[in-house]
Amino acid sequence: MDETTSEPEAVRRPASGTESSRANRAWWDENADEYQQDHGAFLGDARFVWCPEGLDEAEAELLGPASALRGRDVLEVGAGAAQCSRWLAAQGARPVALDLSHRQLRHALRLGRADGGPDDGPDGSEPGFPLVEADATALPFAAGSFDLACSAFGALPFVAEPDRVMREVRRVLRPGGRWVFSVTHPLRWALADEPGPAGLTVLASYFDRTPYVEQDARGRTVYAEHHRTLGDRVRDVVGAGFRLVDLVEPEWPDWNQQVWGGWSPLRGRLVPGTAIFVCERG
Ligand SMILES: C[S@@+](CC[C@H](N)C(=O)[O-])C[C@H]1O[C@@H](n2cnc3c(N)ncnc32)[C@H](O)[C@@H]1O
Repeated sequence: MDETTSEPEAVRRPASGTESSRANRAWWDENADEYQQDHGAFLGDARFVWCPEGLDEAEAELLGPASALRGRDVLEVGAGAAQCSRWLAAQGARPVALDLSHRQLRHALRLGRADGGPDDGPDGSEPGFPLVEADATALPFAAGSFDLACSAFGALPFVAEPDRVMREVRRVLRPGGRWVFSVTHPLRWALADEPGPAGLTVLASYFDRTPYVEQDARGRTVYAEHHRTLGDRVRDVVGAGFRLVDLVEPEWPDWNQQVWGGWSPLRGRLVPGTAIFVCERG
């Protein structure tokens, strides 16, 4: 078999934290261009979209009223091309966009160049806020650096140790700081990841936490996703010292006709696809 061209094999097996980070960094570096090409228009260059359902922070105000964001230090975890951070900057906040993937952060620079707006740096190639290449399980910031933290599907579905991310976010937040993150709704784990009717059939146990892994012909992990049940996520949040303020399950709106991976109007109208946790640091 030609190892360089064969498709990765999808399996369910354990994948360590280091193994998952290494694989996912390479996967996002390799797939960032295609991801931005496929989803960039829906995400918008400077919108804050929480999920494929299209819930927008401008209307949801899960981080608080937009008018209260001015002057706030905000960490975006797993920022991708940092579209959310660009929206935050436009509200007068001081975002820092962190991501594991160099190529995703290159797209943040590209967006800075594309619109040439007032948030751009002096040479027109900077987004006007820091981009940080790092792993969400080891945040390179001093304790108490931020007022708010957010993540729209960044890092948490992909890390083997989400409790480490929780503890790290708590450490870098100031007391009373809000931490809002969206992830794939845990219910989806049990269903086939298909946008059509096949995606309405239970295929696996919701309670089976064995990671979803794609591996190459030599058995090396090239992509990993990690499952937490709803209860696991709540325990991660509370165990790290946060108070859970709300759990938002966005409903699929009529205007949204897109299919994004396993997300679709068909499934969205019947079962939740996204869970958004609104937490506050004690
Ligand atoms: C689905 S994208 C979400 C980004 C953005 N909110 C969006 O909707 O495009 C997931 C992002 O998480 C990043 N990521 C994955 N694992 C990470 C980790 N351990 N630490 C930091 N970022 C990570 C990926 O590089 C990717 O950019």
